[in-house]
Amino acid sequence: MPESLLETSLCGIRLRNPVLAASGTFGYGIEFAKIVDLNKLGGIVTKGLSREPITGNPAPRLWNTDSGMMNSIGLQNVGVRAFIADKLPLLRQYSTPIIANIFGSSIDDYVEVVQALEDTTGIAAYELNVSCPNTKEGGIFFSSDPLLLASLIKRVRPLARRPLIVKLSPNVARIQPFAEAAEEAGADALSLVNTFIGLAIDIHTRRPRIGAGFGGLSGPAIKPLALRLVYEASRAVKIPVIGLGGIMNGEDAAEFFVAGASAVQVGTGTFVDPRAPYLVAKQLEHVVKRLNIRSLRDLTGSLETP
Ligand SMILES: Cc1cc2nc3c(=O)[nH]c(=O)nc-3n(C[C@H](O)[C@H](O)[C@H](O)COP(=O)(O)O)c2cc1C
Repeated sequence: MPESLLETSLCGIRLRNPVLAASGTFGYGIEFAKIVDLNKLGGIVTKGLSREPITGNPAPRLWNTDSGMMNSIGLQNVGVRAFIADKLPLLRQYSTPIIANIFGSSIDDYVEVVQALEDTTGIAAYELNVSCPNTKEGGIFFSSDPLLLASLIKRVRPLARRPLIVKLSPNVARIQPFAEAAEEAGADALSLVNTFIGLAIDIHTRRPRIGAGFGGLSGPAIKPLALRLVYEASRAVKIPVIGLGGIMNGEDAAEFFVAGASAVQVGTGTFVDPRAPYLVAKQLEHVVKRLNIRSLRDLTGSLETP
């Protein structure tokens, strides 16, 4: 099957396939260049970038659960300036679209990171991680208040010449108000889901298994939860939805398309096999063949509900 069958475009960005490496699980991309041909990936979402470097949370930062993984890395990253100086020049050698994942603890933080990246080449889009507390607003999470979410997007949107993807948190009662607020404020696409906040306990020490206390749950355990949220969000908005959460193979990915996704990301799967985003894309080709459809567009949003 020619690769072009999986070729698609997302917010005007040409993707050779719609399977991207998810933020925080694929470093800055270049670390994986010896293991997988980066030019075969649909796209790479970088580790979250902040205004200043962050050293992250105390160990242990990862814990395996039944069919999932907990993490609390604490958004460790080199900071946007070191990313631009040291990582981006290496990434520019590849033709794969690079999406910069951005976070901050105030709207000004996000603005500064976007402005720094606007002066550079080699970035295809921004993905705003809004699962962070706004310290200026007393620690309220951007992802827990549609108005705060909208005010963040409204500040960033006019500054960004590149598409703005807003990555929603699943830790809300209803996803629709957040999806609608993001679209209305100018988001070009949504990605969901980020991790589910959880707690793993060691009964012997009576302490959390994760150094920072709570952690984010990802992997196969969250796939049905993520599918439901992708379904609901994609019904609520007209902009494309990028689905993720527990995708380990091509069939998992196809389920997200049926739920309403226009592209997908692979995160925890990369911990099982660092080539996971590439392998999932290969398997997705076979799924398209088996289902005897012309393209993935025929799958997107095709869920028949009772
Ligand atoms: C170790 C680790 C680090 C992550 N770091 C980030 C991050 O920096 N920014 C972000 O938006 N999401 C981050 N995530 C969330 C993932 O991108 C993804 O949304 C989540 O893990 C669900 O997908 P999965 O089940 O395929 O892993 C991280 C996840 C893991 C496991």
